[in-house]
Amino acid sequence: MENIKGIIFDLDGVLVHTDELHYQAWKSIADKEGIFFDRTVNNRLRGVSRMESLDIILEKCDKTRSNAEKLHLATQKNDLYRTSLASLSADSVAQGVRSALLTLRERGYRLAIGSSSKNAEGILANTQLRDLFENVTDGNNISHSKPHPEVFLKAAAALGLSPAQCVVVEDARAGVDAAIDGGFVCFAMGDAADYPRADHKLNDFTDILEWLR
Ligand code: BG6
Ligand code: MG
Repeated sequence: MENIKGIIFDLDGVLVHTDELHYQAWKSIADKEGIFFDRTVNNRLRGVSRMESLDIILEKCDKTRSNAEKLHLATQKNDLYRTSLASLSADSVAQGVRSALLTLRERGYRLAIGSSSKNAEGILANTQLRDLFENVTDGNNISHSKPHPEVFLKAAAALGLSPAQCVVVEDARAGVDAAIDGGFVCFAMGDAADYPRADHKLNDFTDILEWLR
């Protein structure tokens, strides 16, 4: 780990439990449309864009939807999701995360966000995390969402670092694929913790402080 100078964090499900809010919003859309949707299907949505998430949900449905209908469903989901984001505050940050990020900065690491979400800036503002990161690369800055490495390559470039100088922290298998295919070191937690492609498993977010001294 001597070479590591930067850390790029996924946001949803890593720093904030917004992965649960995504699930709840999609679940209410799926229920209203009579489409089967559970947490196993939901795990496949981690790290992938809003429209790709909808395509995965619609795999369980025989009815073909026009692009306009799909856009309408995705907009309804995003409206529900954004309503739930309004209640986020500094207290919504996952346990131990804020102090661990401050410690990593004190140790000299450069921090960035690499998220597929178009709502990332709003979440960082509501949770008062924004100032801890030198760069936020998100769903508004990329053409390909995870498992494509674009979001992490752009975040590393913004830090002025090569992929080999950065660790990526992820809870999505698609995110681990993106990191490893991009040439990054990858720490995995949550749903991706046991994914064999990751370099190290974090049982708890604060384990990162043991790996990056
Ligand atoms: C990712 C989430 O961070 O962002 C995905 O893991 C989500 O589940 C994606 O689909 C896009 O989010 P948004 O906020 O742009 O709909
Ligand atoms: Mg995530």
